[in-house]
Amino acid sequence: MAEQQFSRTTVTAALIYANGPIHIGHLAGCYVPADIYVRYLRATGHDVAFISGTDEHGVPITIRAQKEGITPQEVVDKYYVQIRDSFAEFGISFDIYSRTSKPAHHRMSQDIFLQIYDKGGFVEETTEQYFDPKAGQFLADRYIVGTCPVCGNENAYGDQCERCGSTLSPTELINPRSALSGETPVLKPTKNWYLPLDALQPRLSTYVESHPEWKTNVAGQVRSWLSEGLKPRAMTRDLDWGIRVPLSDAEGKVLYVWFDAPIGYITFTQEWAEQVGKAWEPYWKSADTKLVHFIGKDNIVFHCLIFPAMLLAEGSYILPDNVPANEFLNLEGDKISTSRNWAVWLHEYLEEFPGRADVLRYALCANAPESKDNDFTWKDFQARNNSELADNLGNFINRALVLTQKNFGGAVPPVGALLDLDRALLAELAAAPARIGERLATYRFRDALAEAMNLSRAGNKYLAETEPWKLAKSQPERVPTILNLSLQLAATLAVVLE
Ligand code: MF3
Ligand code: ZN
Repeated sequence: MAEQQFSRTTVTAALIYANGPIHIGHLAGCYVPADIYVRYLRATGHDVAFISGTDEHGVPITIRAQKEGITPQEVVDKYYVQIRDSFAEFGISFDIYSRTSKPAHHRMSQDIFLQIYDKGGFVEETTEQYFDPKAGQFLADRYIVGTCPVCGNENAYGDQCERCGSTLSPTELINPRSALSGETPVLKPTKNWYLPLDALQPRLSTYVESHPEWKTNVAGQVRSWLSEGLKPRAMTRDLDWGIRVPLSDAEGKVLYVWFDAPIGYITFTQEWAEQVGKAWEPYWKSADTKLVHFIGKDNIVFHCLIFPAMLLAEGSYILPDNVPANEFLNLEGDKISTSRNWAVWLHEYLEEFPGRADVLRYALCANAPESKDNDFTWKDFQARNNSELADNLGNFINRALVLTQKNFGGAVPPVGALLDLDRALLAELAAAPARIGERLATYRFRDALAEAMNLSRAGNKYLAETEPWKLAKSQPERVPTILNLSLQLAATLAVVLE
């Protein structure tokens, strides 16, 4: 597609469930790349809104509440604060970090539901759903577990298998059992409202095909969904924790969490716009706005197909321009797992390494799972800190500043006559920001970081070749030039790394 000119960019980062603390996998997969992208846009003078918050509905919240013996509201109140503070400590520069439990979000979700409903955008259907007679409750999504029909994982959820990534519906599970009681559930009829993804498929295919630039890991998942043929998907659930379905014949039903959560991006944009005295609509309804969703790979179909389908059915919103999802980060060769407590929790990292959030951001970006799953190891973390941040970047900055302090009392010395190697360094310096920017603009953050570190390496090479510390007697006229150029390089590094 021809490069389009955009007037503003709406950047969202996944609304994480407020049911536990956050770990390095979350940062590496979604929040560090989103933050880098937004910092790049701001630095280059773009109008950008960086939106995120917590997802506070759905079964993951109520299951956690049962486990901790507290109410769902207490769960989300506790983890919202912890998650928000962790992101702040790691310098993730959201314009707003809000929550889906706010009344404004309930209203917005119900409004959008009704817009679609009034247009005849839902199909009403009574189906047999699993019910736990012991608990007296329907078993939606993660309330039901069983064997995955695709990969044989015995602990697949009713909505998704976490091992193979397949999206499931509860009736596809082999040997289903209730996550509440462990009992075998029974089938019971109930009415729900479905989004007819099958009918929307032609428009969704056209949309997806208009984005050949999407990452291959993203396009691959989307294409395989489309080729299997989309099926209608229920947008309501028989649960009591969530946003009420705004219809008179929907007693005891709430909106599907994957219906309300992405609408949170819209509600929070509205909340932010109000705070800063702007209009929110352009960020969601203008064709010259670029909408970008940063997520992990388990959220791809929701952002590339289901949320776009909702927006198409509503009719007045733009669709995402890109969804640069990352793959997963493993820890020391094993899948990160909250339930097995196999993770590096951000709050614990900061207890070990106070004030060193940037070192982790660096390691996670340098080793980001951009195109395939990747492994975090403490050995790699140590090597990156010692040989890259200290020996390369730290060493260069230190030498440039200390020599300037020593020779010129901290003032920037003037440039004199230039030699070939000076001109070569200046040329490299002049080319670097555009080169790095091009990579950032196309979501290649590892590459961008590698280029920035190459610049620092070029600085070390320049100092090693010119040896300004030896020239005070033999060629004193060279020293100001060498240090001037070194300081220019240090300043450029500061800007691109920021
Ligand atoms: N809560 C979901 C998760 O953690 C992500 C929701 S993203 C949104 O996997 F689009 F729904 F907001
Ligand atoms: Zn599976």
